Amino acid sequence: MHIVHAATAVTVLLATHADARPEGKTLQARAYQQAKPALGWNSWNAFGCNGGSANAAMTAANQFKSLGLLALGYNYVNIDDCWTSSARDSSGNLQADPSKWPHGVASVATTLHGMGLKFGLYGDAGEKTCAGHPGSGGHETQDAKLLSSWGVDFWKYDNCYTNCNGQYPQTCWGVSRSTKAWYQPMGTALAAVSHPILFSLCSWGQDNVWTWGKTVGGSSWRMANDISDSWSSVASIANAAAGIASYAGPDGFNDLDMLEIGNGGLSAAEERAHFGLWAIAKSPLIIGTDLSKISASSLAILKNAGLIAINQDSLGKAASYFHPKNVAGPTSGQLYPYWAGPLSDGVVLGLVASNGAQSFTVNFADVPGLGAGSFAWKEMYSGKTGTGTTVSISLASHDMAVYKVTKS
Ligand code: GAL
Repeated sequence: MHIVHAATAVTVLLATHADARPEGKTLQARAYQQAKPALGWNSWNAFGCNGGSANAAMTAANQFKSLGLLALGYNYVNIDDCWTSSARDSSGNLQADPSKWPHGVASVATTLHGMGLKFGLYGDAGEKTCAGHPGSGGHETQDAKLLSSWGVDFWKYDNCYTNCNGQYPQTCWGVSRSTKAWYQPMGTALAAVSHPILFSLCSWGQDNVWTWGKTVGGSSWRMANDISDSWSSVASIANAAAGIASYAGPDGFNDLDMLEIGNGGLSAAEERAHFGLWAIAKSPLIIGTDLSKISASSLAILKNAGLIAINQDSLGKAASYFHPKNVAGPTSGQLYPYWAGPLSDGVVLGLVASNGAQSFTVNFADVPGLGAGSFAWKEMYSGKTGTGTTVSISLASHDMAVYKVTKS
């Protein structure tokens, strides 16, 4: 993966003047700059609070190896909420719950690094995490140093129990606030530590985080509320992502949330669409299931090398809706079937049967980035290839086809 650790003296100096610059143009130290969306696993969707342990991390790490996920590029093993004790220690440091981390956090990070993996943890910009564990608000510098000393590579940073103009606890919907103000201190603190730590903002799309996530050092930012294991949730997040595709990449991405593939609420067709949409939207692809129970069909979706390559394409640009001639345009609030986006060596074309079984014929001349003439295509789930001026497919309800289209 192409990575740049951007905490250089020059960029730190520029940060001094950051506030004088217009929104979105701030120049400052980045916590850690990863030019491609992160690939990995997180404990929350499968295990919730019970997943906050060394055992969960080590189990996932071993599964990354045995299931061939590491070989495909999945490398972050991330532990979510509930890994700490209920209070800080006498020096004010976060402390791992000793019953869940018998040998501490650093030993797990070291073991994972030795396996070729990276290790992520979760924290919160407010007083408490969403599950009520100590938050990092007011402790940013101390916590960033601790994470660095442990060798933590990824820091998911949540938005609960933040001081929204005095209104506790959490979320503060509808009040005037500036979410950026409580993400900035951690971004600055992470940029100053010696170990590179990817900063993953989990501010649920608040205050149009896609317009400023990069300026506080974020490599990705959650652009919507929590995903649930249902088609309506997948469709609604993907539809919202289409509207903000231009803010993705190449070195800061819209995070559509952790994957629900393997968790039982989606049909095989819906799991294909979920993964295909997340891949072409250039979302981090963070597996969210118990890998010891995953079905062959779900695992095959997560292991689709063609879709992973599209997600990791060096151009880093997200696909969005396009409107072919002779079909109705998008309807507000509904997932639209037609997606396209640029790749470094072609164009990705996505078709989703979002309103039930549907037959498609797409003229390449209607697809942004293509045009008149003949093109070669390959569909990522079936492996089918062809050439021509159009492509046609019949899809079952909620299924998806993803084509890589290149000059023939
Ligand atoms: C939510 C967050 C989830 C998960 C959870 C843990 O706010 O969006 O992804 O981290 O908190 O409590």
